[in-house]
Amino acid sequence: MKSKKTFQILTLLLFCSVSISAQNRLIIEADQGKQTINRQIYGHFSEHLGRCIYGGYWVGEESSVPNTRGIRNDVVNALKDIRIPNLRWPGGCFADEYHWMDGIGPRENRAKMINTHWGGVVEDNSFGTHEFLDLCEQLGTEPYISANVGSGTVEEMSKWIEYVTFDGESPMANLRRQNGRDEPWKVKYWGIGNESWGCGGNMRPEYYADLYRHYATYARNYGDNQIYRIACGANGGDYNWTETVMQNAGRQMQGLSLHYYTVPRDWSDKGSATNFDEKEYFTTIEKTLFMDELITKHSLIMDRYDPQKRVGMIIDEWGTWYNVEPGTNPGFLYQQNTMRDAVVAGINLNIFNSHSDRVQMANLAQTVNVLQAVILTDEEKMVLTPTYWVFYLYKVHQDATLLPISFTSNQYRQGDRAIDAVSVSASKDADGKIHITLVNADPNNEQRISTQLVGASVKNISGQMLTADKINDYNSIDQPSKVSVKEFKGASLSGSNLSVVLPSKSVVMLELK
Ligand code: AHR
Repeated sequence: MKSKKTFQILTLLLFCSVSISAQNRLIIEADQGKQTINRQIYGHFSEHLGRCIYGGYWVGEESSVPNTRGIRNDVVNALKDIRIPNLRWPGGCFADEYHWMDGIGPRENRAKMINTHWGGVVEDNSFGTHEFLDLCEQLGTEPYISANVGSGTVEEMSKWIEYVTFDGESPMANLRRQNGRDEPWKVKYWGIGNESWGCGGNMRPEYYADLYRHYATYARNYGDNQIYRIACGANGGDYNWTETVMQNAGRQMQGLSLHYYTVPRDWSDKGSATNFDEKEYFTTIEKTLFMDELITKHSLIMDRYDPQKRVGMIIDEWGTWYNVEPGTNPGFLYQQNTMRDAVVAGINLNIFNSHSDRVQMANLAQTVNVLQAVILTDEEKMVLTPTYWVFYLYKVHQDATLLPISFTSNQYRQGDRAIDAVSVSASKDADGKIHITLVNADPNNEQRISTQLVGASVKNISGQMLTADKINDYNSIDQPSKVSVKEFKGASLSGSNLSVVLPSKSVVMLELK
C-alpha cells in the first residue's frame, strides 16, 4: 500500500516536471474518489409560465399531437433519453399563488384563475396534481412540489401532502380516491415557499425563518414517505439571508435553495439570445463562473451551522435569462438557445459536480419553451437545443463517484479581463468507467490538455463532442441538427498520459475503460 502511494507521488512529480511548459495541465486521481454526485444535480424545473406546461407538455387527450393521457410523447421520450432525475413544479412565482384544489377533479369543473406573474393569461387548471404526477411517472422521474406559502395557508399545504401521500382513511386520501387514484404517490421533495424574499411575499429573512418553521411542522411524513423539506434560500449573493435562515431554522430543514441566473447585461435589457458580440459572450461566461464563488460562500455559512453537511444546497433555479424572442409575449420568457448556452450549461454542471459534498440538487430553468430550455416546441414539432445535448453528454455523471482533480487552465482574455478557458469534471461510475467532461469556452482557439491519470490503467478511450461553426449557432425547426453531438477523436493515450485537443467553443465527454 505504502509503495503504491510512493509510486503515485513520484509519478505526479515526474508529470509536473515534464509538463512544466504545457498549457492546460490536469491530474486526475482515479482511485481517490469519496463523494457521490447526486443524480438530482441533473434536474429540471417547469412552471405554469408561457408555453412550458401548456403546449410544452400538455396538449390534452383530444390533440392531434401524439400523447398519452394528454401529455406529449415526443417530449417525454426526449427527456427520458437524458435520464431526467427530478422535476420541480408548479413554480416559481406561480407556486405562491397556486391553490392546488383548483386543479383536481373533473377538468370541465375546475376553477379558472389569472396567471398574474406571467402574461396575465387565464389558467384553466387543466394540468393539476394528477396530471403532473402522471407526467413524472411517464418520465420515471422524482417529483418536487413547490408549496404555496406566499398566498396559501398551512392547512392548504398540509392537506396537499395528505392528499398526495397518505395511504389510510382520511378526508384528503378519500378525495384522491374519488378523483381516480387509489394508491398514494411517493413525493419526497417539497419546497416551502419560492423566492419568499421577492415574488413569494417580499419577506425579511427573520420573518421567513419563523414562517418556515411553522409550515415545516405541518409538512408531515405519512407511512414511509419521508419528506425532504426545502427552505427558500438566497437570491444570488444575499449571504445575510443564508446566515439568518440557517441560524433560525437550519435544524428544521433538509435542503436550502439558491437561485442564480446568468443575465449578460442587466434586468432592464438582458441582451439577445442569438445576436451578441464576443464581448457580451465573454461577460456571459464570466457571470456563469460566478456560480462557483456563490456556492463556496453560501457553503461556508452553512458549514458553521451544519458542519456535518446534513442540509443539502438545492440550486433549484439556474440558467441563462435573455430578452424574449422578438414578437413573442414578454410574459412568456421564450428565448432561443445557442452554442453559448451549451458552454454555460457545461460550466455550471462541472461546478455543481465539484461541490457535490454540499450541492444535492440543481434544476435548470426551465425544461420546455421557457428560458434556457432543453426542448422547444412549435405545435406538433419539437427541437432539441444545444443545452439538451450537454445534459445528454453529462448524464454519465449521475450517481457516479466524483474524482479529485487538480487543474491549471489557460486563460481566455478580452481586453484586460481574463477567465479560465477550460472547465473540467471527472467521475467513476459503478462499472469502473471514468468519464471526463470538458468545456472550452474560448471561441477562437483550440485548447491542448496534458492529463495525468493516477491510479487507473486505461485501455480504451472514446468520446463525444458538441461544437458549432459560430458561438451563436442554434437549432430550429428548419435546421434541427445544426448543433448536435458528434464523435470526438481528439484524445490519445500514452501510458498514463492522456492528451486532449479541444476545438474552440466545445463541450466534450470522454469515456475511459
Ligand atoms: O424562472 C422564472 C422565474 O424566475 C421564477 O418564477 C422565479 O422563481 C424566478 O424569479
